[in-house]
Amino acid sequence: MNLVEKDKQYVLNLYKRIDIEIDRGEGSYLYDVDGNKYLDMYSGISVNNLGHLNKTLSDIIAKQAERFMHLSNYFACESTVNLAKILVENTFASKVFFSNSGTEANEAAIKLARKFGRKYSDSKNVILTASNSFHGRSCGSLTLTARDRYKNDFLPLLPRVKNFIYNDTNDLKALVNDDVCAVFLETVQGEGGIVEISQEFIDKLMKLSKQYNFLVIIDDIQAGLGRTGDFLSFEKYGIKPHVATLAKSLGGGLPLGAMLVSEEVEDVLKPGDHGSTFGGNPVACAAGEYVVSNIADSEFLNQVKRKGNIMISGLNELKTKYPLVIRDVRGRGLMIGIDAGQYAQSIKNTALELGLMLNVTNDTVIRLLPSLNINDKEIEEFLGKFEKTINSIKTAR
Ligand SMILES: Cc1ncc(COP(=O)(O)O)c(C=O)c1O
Repeated sequence: MNLVEKDKQYVLNLYKRIDIEIDRGEGSYLYDVDGNKYLDMYSGISVNNLGHLNKTLSDIIAKQAERFMHLSNYFACESTVNLAKILVENTFASKVFFSNSGTEANEAAIKLARKFGRKYSDSKNVILTASNSFHGRSCGSLTLTARDRYKNDFLPLLPRVKNFIYNDTNDLKALVNDDVCAVFLETVQGEGGIVEISQEFIDKLMKLSKQYNFLVIIDDIQAGLGRTGDFLSFEKYGIKPHVATLAKSLGGGLPLGAMLVSEEVEDVLKPGDHGSTFGGNPVACAAGEYVVSNIADSEFLNQVKRKGNIMISGLNELKTKYPLVIRDVRGRGLMIGIDAGQYAQSIKNTALELGLMLNVTNDTVIRLLPSLNINDKEIEEFLGKFEKTINSIKTAR
């Protein structure tokens, strides 16, 4: 039995596995056990943002593991404090809560929002989220996720969560009243197919937040940490949310999430209100210190923007050349969506044969989330192989 067959036999079947046995990773590449090399264009769905096999990072992890791997929450931990400090120094936040995942960061934010509302009235507990949003799969964060196919089999979920149409200010306005305690929002919907929020929507949201005293909670789990070319994705809009959630690349591949909170709401949750055994794990936070200090560097972020622009303009040229296959190219930084309609899946399969690993989200969108330190030569390789893949589709020619 090979690994893929054993996986089928022993691991609960919840994921669409790719039939390849990965041996190792290095930079932007993955290698299978037969020695085949693949250019990885989604880096563990935006987890390996500094590439695979970063020697400095693995040394840092080993060093912390040799000191201690876990401390209970009764003790302050140096790497956890250091990571919180870097996050505070580089963002709107005054304090940080650490979790193990994105879902759990959002769970913490749900509790913070509900407790915030309760200070004002027993009915101020309505949470609004956007159509097509993705916020996780535990029961609380799944309630926020506005996609019936993920939810229907698990109803009833949390009460008093409603959805507005993404980017539709009138729809948002129609749902807002004094009972709303929070709005959760992705500034770029990742699972939803790389769709960006407009400045107009954000401006309206912030205005309503002041008027009706609700929290703005940005789920930056996929779009944050340099992915869009800004350290946090919402910096572009010139706003300071009350809360933001992070995960994905935060722990450099180790499980780590965070809820960043602004000074205004840093006292809402009190000792005993929330917690986690593993959240803020010393080893994951030591890795996080390295990841965040690298990504928060302005020159690093400028490079993400520059490389994103090269990719987007290359893809737009392909869109002009192959309009029947590429319907839209969108996104910013190195978070890019290519709407390829019914061809998305077959492009993904053909690309794999050419040594190019692509990911498809929302059925029709090829989602590019390469490592943020992908180099120009690798971008060129991607564009060449991607064109070759499209060319192999009959309709394209
Ligand atoms: C925007 C967003 N929120 C939340 C999550 C859930 O994070 P996790 O899988 O770490 O629980 C994801 C995961 O893809 C995400 O993209």
